[in-house]
Amino acid sequence: MHSHDVLIVGGGLAGLRAAVELNKANVKVGLISKVHPLRSHSVAAQGGINASLGNHPRGDYDTAMRHAFDTVKGSDFLADQPAVVRMAKDAPLRVYEIEHWGCPFSRTDEGKIAQRPFGGAGFPRTCYASDKTGLAMMHTLFEQMIRYQQAAERQELVVYSEWLVIGLAVDGDLCAGAVAMNIKTGEVDGFKAEAVLFATGGAGRIYGNSTNAIINSGMGMAVPYRAGVSLKDMEFVQFHPTTLLGSNILISEAARGEGGFLLNKDGHRFLADYPDSKKAMEVAPRDIVARNMAREILAGRAVEGTHFRLDLRHLGEEKIQKQLPGIRDLAIRFAGIDPADEPVPVQPGQHYTMGGIDVDRSGATLLKGLYAAGEAACVSVHGANRLGGNSLLDTIVFGAIAGEAMAEFVAGHVRPASSDKALADSAAREREAVERLMTGGGTEDPVAIKDEMKKTMMEKVGIFRDREGLSSALETIRGLKDRYKRVRVSFKGKVLNQELRSTIELGGSLDVAEAVVAGALAREESRGSHSRTDFRSRDDASWLKHTLAAHTPDGPRLSYKDVELGYFEPAERVY
Ligand code: FUM
Repeated sequence: MHSHDVLIVGGGLAGLRAAVELNKANVKVGLISKVHPLRSHSVAAQGGINASLGNHPRGDYDTAMRHAFDTVKGSDFLADQPAVVRMAKDAPLRVYEIEHWGCPFSRTDEGKIAQRPFGGAGFPRTCYASDKTGLAMMHTLFEQMIRYQQAAERQELVVYSEWLVIGLAVDGDLCAGAVAMNIKTGEVDGFKAEAVLFATGGAGRIYGNSTNAIINSGMGMAVPYRAGVSLKDMEFVQFHPTTLLGSNILISEAARGEGGFLLNKDGHRFLADYPDSKKAMEVAPRDIVARNMAREILAGRAVEGTHFRLDLRHLGEEKIQKQLPGIRDLAIRFAGIDPADEPVPVQPGQHYTMGGIDVDRSGATLLKGLYAAGEAACVSVHGANRLGGNSLLDTIVFGAIAGEAMAEFVAGHVRPASSDKALADSAAREREAVERLMTGGGTEDPVAIKDEMKKTMMEKVGIFRDREGLSSALETIRGLKDRYKRVRVSFKGKVLNQELRSTIELGGSLDVAEAVVAGALAREESRGSHSRTDFRSRDDASWLKHTLAAHTPDGPRLSYKDVELGYFEPAERVY
């Protein structure tokens, strides 16, 4: 049994930012991650982080309230407005804070943090470190974590790398800790904590074509969901317009922000042909650009019926190398194409999970002591469609807020004796479940189940959806869940058993996929990333509300809660 005041699950930006906040408050922290923190998916974030710094002459009139308005409009008015306003107001503070900690942002000629245009703003608001912003921020926060570890002269912050959290201990209405499997040894152990934060990222890998790292299985959402915490707005899944053909590696929106063109098979900038993108063109919000790409595919105007050309050649080699060196490198290595000489073949791919663990503005769930932040959580600040550049911001703003809230919670919390028993019971249950997977006589191949889940989600729960496809997807996912009960793990070794790890995670992916499909089937309107071909309009009268999915043995039970308005009236989205 391991024991800490607070356990942080996930070593990406949200988790590290919360750890720094907790360390400031002298709270003892355990940080557990299924990979080394610096291998978290946050390092893959490329284009930048939004803050109304007004450093660019074209955006010098920017304010936090403009940022908030653009975010709410981008969300198709589903975001909770007080949370968005808080995020936009905290943005400059958090960006300057991480700058002062040493984050190597790109600079203007005067030495200020450089900003570039991203979708939804109409002018440069997105601060960046060339096209490796997530990597730069991760290393900066990792250094801060080490600084606190060393300054404390005792182990205030213990990092458990390569541990997979597989269960939560619930004691009445209290979270009593977590249960995790050490991937290196197969051992299952309890982690006693007064508060637990899930900062485990998104669930992109329930889809076949995703920019997400393989680690983004959705397990970090499934664990609290199974423990009784609802998932919110899971039907809203973002497709990024530009992912590299075939591998779906992210080709940053920065490439379009810097002036890249999207061309169809006739070499035409087709976004001019659609009323919702004809003004903003390549920097219209992602839901709009991805949807218009899908329309071009359906109309037979995509290159080879599958993709588009992202043309950067007119930017010139010098600008490409200075502003987009990572994109150039990725295109050369993974597609054999130098963007300075040839257009890059791109297609839309799953990119971001707008939904997540239902939390309030402090990151708290309805289970006392359980918190979530970053992509794993749904505050909600992204509503039905997230603006590019708001994800990195979400991690450091709400990571810090959750850290502060947990420090306060543990200071006033007295752990009941019953919590230790709840944790021991939960650890015993999870140990038995792992043992059953290893020794049971299952016959179902986990890889076949996973492949079918990913294919179904791509084909039937993608950019366009309808009742027929969604009903069939729900039936398929339920069938896969049934097959999963008879899944087999062939490799019986205990040390670094990746088949065991991925089979455990597959169970979580299926639960999350089911919540996505159920929410999408029930929501009979089109809003943001959720485009129903059988319900083409946004319907504020019936659907200006958040979906809550509660876990039951028979599948998700859906209920709804009001969107928090208060600042901006829902209106038509024109760009
Ligand atoms: O395109 C990008 O660089 C991604 C940014 C984001 O998702 O915020």
